[in-house]
Amino acid sequence: MCGIVGYVGQKQALEIVVAGLRRLEYRGYDSAGVAVVSGEELVVRKKAGKLVNLETLLGSDPMPDSTTGIGHTRWATHGGPTDSNAHPHVSEDGTVAVIHNGIIENFAELRAELNAAGVSLSSETDTEVVAHLLALELPAADRDLPEAMRRVCRRLEGAFTLVALDREQPDLVVGARRNSPLVVGVGQGENFLASDVAAFVDHTREALELGQDQVVILTPTSVTVTDFDGEPAAVRPFTVDWDASAAEKGGFDLFMLKEIAEQPRAVADSLRGRITRDSRIQLDETNLDEAALRAITKVVVIACGTAAHAGMVAKYAIEHWTRVPVEVELASEFRYRDPIVGPDSLVIAISQSGETMDTLMALRYAKAQGAHTLAICNTVGSTIPRESDGVLYTYAGPEIAVASTKAFLTQIIAAYLVGLYLAQVRGTMFEDEIRGVLAELDDMPSKVDLVLDTTEPVRALARELAGATSVLFLGRHVGFPVALEGALKLKELAYMHAEGFPAGELKHGPIALIEEGVPVIVIVPSPRGRAVLHDKIVSNIQEVRARGALVVAIAEEGDESITPYAEHIIRIPAVPTLMQPLVATVPLQAFACEMATAKGHDVDQPRNLAKSVTVE
Ligand code: M6R
Repeated sequence: MCGIVGYVGQKQALEIVVAGLRRLEYRGYDSAGVAVVSGEELVVRKKAGKLVNLETLLGSDPMPDSTTGIGHTRWATHGGPTDSNAHPHVSEDGTVAVIHNGIIENFAELRAELNAAGVSLSSETDTEVVAHLLALELPAADRDLPEAMRRVCRRLEGAFTLVALDREQPDLVVGARRNSPLVVGVGQGENFLASDVAAFVDHTREALELGQDQVVILTPTSVTVTDFDGEPAAVRPFTVDWDASAAEKGGFDLFMLKEIAEQPRAVADSLRGRITRDSRIQLDETNLDEAALRAITKVVVIACGTAAHAGMVAKYAIEHWTRVPVEVELASEFRYRDPIVGPDSLVIAISQSGETMDTLMALRYAKAQGAHTLAICNTVGSTIPRESDGVLYTYAGPEIAVASTKAFLTQIIAAYLVGLYLAQVRGTMFEDEIRGVLAELDDMPSKVDLVLDTTEPVRALARELAGATSVLFLGRHVGFPVALEGALKLKELAYMHAEGFPAGELKHGPIALIEEGVPVIVIVPSPRGRAVLHDKIVSNIQEVRARGALVVAIAEEGDESITPYAEHIIRIPAVPTLMQPLVATVPLQAFACEMATAKGHDVDQPRNLAKSVTVE
């Protein structure tokens, strides 16, 4: 959700903060704002709309030189995307500016208290109360912003990252976090705060992971961290393992196009170092205890959106390889249904960002029930891996486009490695069987590369079908979550009705949606291996064709049996059934991206969405 940047050092704070916001705009783009302390002044500029609107404002109404500043890019929760609701919010006396990510749940009560005290609020946000509360905690003499922040945080309920400046204490930036991301960038004579390392990786790759309920105090030469009571608190240093160019478009028009193209490398990187020379899987970083793994009676995957689709794909593989039942639950539903999890369960939380609040809350619930927890995550230093018993990082590199692409493929890879590791530990597969699957996985980067080389016909088709009002996706077995993923991409990017169905389910109701010319994209299973899946889907294709559907088949090279039944065939390399999602998803990503472009939509920042969803 919102993106936050703070800087204190020797350089022009505004330049650094705005550049940081550009990197974080994927987190929210309803409005943006900055504040700097300059001499005796606290100066704020903010504007509704994308960052470019703020940049235009800064051009016409420049800010003074300053070496201390904060900035915010917003995904609206309380109050619409207007200039007055944009952050930073400033205290009535004009001394304190604050930016916020999250939701302050007791804001109504705090607002009433401030009103009763004669403070008038000028926005509809929950954030503004913090600016006024901080000012009330800062007497004219002996001002102590860190202590004021601690006192205010102790009164707040909900999830928040807060970063504040005080006009009377230049060279000081104070941040706080509870259930919302904030990382510190440690520089030479300068320090940074941000929701994501991407904001400061141009300046330093040395970072600190903050814990829960901590306040961080930055000066140009020091970083001090305490808990909300002022006691020194532990932080974990880490080095960002990618450089600034990874967060740039690198010659592509869109981040999404770049990230689609990066998939072969991302898959290869996520496999690297996890397989020994004698084809054994080593997942040391996961802290998975072999005895505990032998004792578990079920696996539960919790995740949202695309990550949940990766979990659904993995279910087929893990159950097949280990004979352990796997449940996949949307994280937002998990803890509300009294789920059966306990010390005999392995709960796998899949999250690209590591900050998705629904997934975090589900994880905490599972931990409280005594489950073993493992995160599959792409973001080092984020909350979900930190709160899990172990983590298996995906090495997709930063994913900036709101629509998830390379994260999906690498999440499948990571979950497959966990499945094979379970099989290895529990002895449910022979060594040569595991070796065979590992060889198939090893082949995937080159197979994905082949798909990337042949996406032009998919793009042409997307342009041709851009006028459609609805697109349906059908799949069977692992093709079903791929169908769901194809539909999700189209919904979020092309803003059109799109639904994914298990092909066999269609006749139980959804087939009524089929009318003349409706595009139906079918993920056709390989005719080799589980031929029954292929035959069944051919029947399903006939059913929709008989009712006028325009069939687009995603079918493997050499599968000529499908030719009579489809108006369009998108070819993918022939791979084993469980590997097919890794190649079949790629054309669907390209299709959605191209269709959104044809419709003139902002592909990287689709409307109403944000990359990292840090509210429930
Ligand atoms: O960061 P996460 O993987 O936890 O995010 C989960 C979903 O919000 C995310 O996958 C979302 O569905 C994507 N925007 C879809 O492309």
